[in-house]
Amino acid sequence: MRTIAIISPSVRRGRNSHRVALYFKRYLEDNKLVSAEILDLKDYNFPLFDERLRHQHDPAAEVLQFAEKIRSASGVIIIAPEYNGGYPASLKNVIDLLTDEWRRKPVAISTVSSGTFGGVQSITSLQFVLWKMRAWTVPAVFPVISVGTSFDEAGNPADREAADTRAAAFTAELLWCVEAREKMNG
Ligand SMILES: Cc1cc2nc3c(=O)[nH]c(=O)nc-3n(C[C@H](O)[C@H](O)[C@H](O)COP(=O)(O)O)c2cc1C
Repeated sequence: MRTIAIISPSVRRGRNSHRVALYFKRYLEDNKLVSAEILDLKDYNFPLFDERLRHQHDPAAEVLQFAEKIRSASGVIIIAPEYNGGYPASLKNVIDLLTDEWRRKPVAISTVSSGTFGGVQSITSLQFVLWKMRAWTVPAVFPVISVGTSFDEAGNPADREAADTRAAAFTAELLWCVEAREKMNG
């Protein structure tokens, strides 16, 4: 069974982007597309980056566990809240931690904001960093505007039909890349 890892980076009290992570987990599983696991960086509570995992002498168990989840995932969805036109430090903290785990990993990005632009200003910088890590970032995007009203705390969209239509196109692109990668890996 394929697994998609959903990275939920906001560690903020009162965060709202986690709602979108909850939505995608349920969307993928209810539609029997794949199994999905949320990697909640608030739960991991990683310290500030000081060295890449492969150069660490005595890595913490949670770091090893996180790395294994990315390595073994068929693909990754990153929920990227927009902070001042960029993505949060907590996300860069874990991108830099790993190296080979990102290589040829299909990654789809959902940008999220409380404003009306859906966090899209952060997408090119995040795509560029992932490209540098040799990940496969899929071209499809899933911007979420006004997240506090467009999704409730349990991840239910205010307009489910519209959200599911967009999610279908977004996840189809990710799963196409997952399938292509599996074929190439034999
Ligand atoms: C430090 C910071 C900067 C932010 N900058 C922006 C911004 O530039 N544009 C915007 O629409 N929303 C901005 N927001 C609002 C977030 O997009 C909003 O909190 C959203 O819910 C996603 O982040 P969260 O999961 O931490 O709540 C900012 C929030 C924070 C905490």
